[in-house]
Amino acid sequence: MSQTEPTSDYGVLASLNKKNDPNSRRRQYREVQETNRKVLKHVRIDESTVIPAALPESEYKKKNRNTPEPQIELPKKRFYRQRAHSNPFSDHRLEYPKKPSMMDWGRLYPAYIDESTGRVDRNVEIADIGCGYGGLMIDLAPAFPDTLILGMEIRVQVTQYVEDRIIALRKHNADAESDSQTNKSMAYQNINVIRGNAMKFLPNFFEKSQLKKIFFCFPDPHFKQRKHKARIVTNTLLSEYAFVLAEGGIIYTITDVLDLHEWMVKHLDEHPLFERLSTEWEEQDKCVAIMRESTEEGKKVARNKGSKYVACYKRLPNPEL
Ligand SMILES: C[S@@+](CC[C@H](N)C(=O)[O-])C[C@H]1O[C@@H](n2cnc3c(N)ncnc32)[C@H](O)[C@@H]1O
Repeated sequence: MSQTEPTSDYGVLASLNKKNDPNSRRRQYREVQETNRKVLKHVRIDESTVIPAALPESEYKKKNRNTPEPQIELPKKRFYRQRAHSNPFSDHRLEYPKKPSMMDWGRLYPAYIDESTGRVDRNVEIADIGCGYGGLMIDLAPAFPDTLILGMEIRVQVTQYVEDRIIALRKHNADAESDSQTNKSMAYQNINVIRGNAMKFLPNFFEKSQLKKIFFCFPDPHFKQRKHKARIVTNTLLSEYAFVLAEGGIIYTITDVLDLHEWMVKHLDEHPLFERLSTEWEEQDKCVAIMRESTEEGKKVARNKGSKYVACYKRLPNPEL
């Protein structure tokens, strides 16, 4: 081996140094995005930073008059790389409200703040669990313009990508057709994302029967049998989903992994509070059409000509005791 030829150790060191290098493009890019995110309403829910009644936009602007408006570009995915999987059982030091009423939704959906109460004027009704890079929400936003939609994602950098994507979309569409009463564009104001572990904290965010639709799009398959307990659909978790879902509400599932599809169908079929909807129903439902096409994972499957397995279930009424 020649003196100059790098060994594999050298390669690892070089890539580590690159990662920590303050001049690396990735690091510089992420620092600028972090600043933009802070200026343009960060969506953390750390209670020490939460203003109980969020500031109306006019006051926010007055207060931040001297802060220059950042130039917002759509984020670049390559700067938000993260491992493909995050262990849902590890302690991620996540932030979550003690109960749903403590959640400050105004920070996520400022265009929906009722100025007389300082709080948003409606509840989140659609949740995208494990939303990844946010493609589903972005296509659902115009399809449900009067509904608040929330993505929950466990990976921190993926969540930040979605936050930055939504900030940029809102900015870019600020001149779009505006609301007749407020004269403001509502484009993409009805979607947002939080970093959270849906397997642990869903009832901390949502009241009983609050949600009308829950999406599980291409959830992590956790192929090995000993990892099946990490799957996002289990008997216990289905009872939590039933708790936050309204009667008649829908669980949407889609995956390219047949074994996972069969697993989800088996558990949903066995649960007394869910009933499968027919393929005819799936064919006429606009969310099924959107979910088949719009998520990043779904697009990847389509590019690779893979199969997509869909199953949708209706939340049944609680049985009489
Ligand atoms: C295979 S990706 C699919 C992403 C997206 N739904 C799509 O179709 O493109 C699964 C996503 O779920 C997230 N995830 C896994 N377990 C989670 C949990 N317990 N709570 C929230 N998100 C989770 C992962 O970080 C990952 O981004």
